[in-house]
Amino acid sequence: MAKSYAGKALTGLGLLTLPWGVLASDLGETLAQQGNDQGAQACVSCHGADGSGNAAAGFPRLAGLDAAYLAKQLEDFQSDARNQPVMNPIAQGLSAEEIEAVAGYYGDMPAPESAGQGTDASEDVLARGEAIAERGMWDKGVPACTSCHGPDGRGVGEAFPTIAGQHAGYITSQIEAWQSGQRSNDPNRLMAEVAERMTDEEAEAAAAYFASLPAPGSQE
Ligand code: HEC
Ligand code: HEC
Repeated sequence: MAKSYAGKALTGLGLLTLPWGVLASDLGETLAQQGNDQGAQACVSCHGADGSGNAAAGFPRLAGLDAAYLAKQLEDFQSDARNQPVMNPIAQGLSAEEIEAVAGYYGDMPAPESAGQGTDASEDVLARGEAIAERGMWDKGVPACTSCHGPDGRGVGEAFPTIAGQHAGYITSQIEAWQSGQRSNDPNRLMAEVAERMTDEEAEAAAAYFASLPAPGSQE
C-alpha cells in the first residue's frame, strides 16, 4: 500500500518536474536497449550500442540521422511502403509515441567516428562515384546526388537524408530496393526516378564515394 502510494507520488512528481524531452529520451533509450513486448526487438542488437550499424550485415547507421527522417522510415516500415522483412515486424510493434521517442534518441546520438571510413574501393571507383555524386549523369537524366542530399551528402532537413558516412552496401541495397519497387516511400518518386536510371556499377561507385565521406558531426 505504502509502496504503491510512494510510487504514484514519485511518478506524479516526475511528470511535474521533468521536461517532456527527458522522459521521451528515457523511453527511446529503453526501447533501443531492451525493445518492448510487442515485437520490437532491442535496436542495439543490430544497429549497435553506438548506433553505427553493421556494414557486412546490411544494418544502417542510425546515429546522427535526422530524427524526423528516422520516424518517417519507421512509419513507412509499419505501413509496408517500405517493404523489408526484418524491419516491418519490428516497426509494427512500436506505438506512435515509441517511434517518436526512439527516433529522437538516435537523432540526438552523435555519429560515431568510424562513420566514413568504411570503404576499400579503388581510386578509380571513388573518382567515378564522386563525378556521379557531384555532377550527376545528365545524358540519362540523373541529377547530382548532392543537389538533393546536400553538399557532400550531409543531408538537408528531414526530407533528404544524410548519406555521407553510411555503409556502402546499405546504400546500394536501397538503390536496388527502389529499382525493384520494394521501397516506394519517397515523396513524388524523387529517389525512384534516380535509382531506375542507374546501373549496378554506377550505384556501387556512388555508394563507395559516400561511404568514404565523414558523417556530419563524426570527425569535426
Ligand atoms: C534484427 C536486426 C534489426 C533490429 C533488431 C532492428 N533493426 Fe532497424 N534495420 C535492420 C535492417 C536490416 C535495416 C535495413 C533495411 C533495408 O535494407 O531497407 C534496418 C533499417 C532501419 C531504419 C532505416 C534507416 C534509414 O536510414 O533509412 C531505421 C529507422 C531502423 N532500422 C530503426 C530501428 C529501430 C528503432 C529498432 C529498434 C526498435 C531497430 N531498427 C531494430 C535491422 C534491424
Ligand atoms: C531529386 C532528389 C534526389 C536525388 C537527385 C537523389 N536522391 Fe537519394 N533520396 C531522395 C529522397 C527524397 C530520399 C528519402 C526518401 C524517403 O523519404 O524515404 C532519398 C534517399 C536516399 C537513400 C536512402 C537513405 C537511407 O538512409 O535509407 C539513398 C541511399 C540515396 N537516396 C542515395 C542517392 C544517391 C546515391 C543519389 C545520386 C545517384 C541520390 N540519392 C540522388 C532524393 C534524391
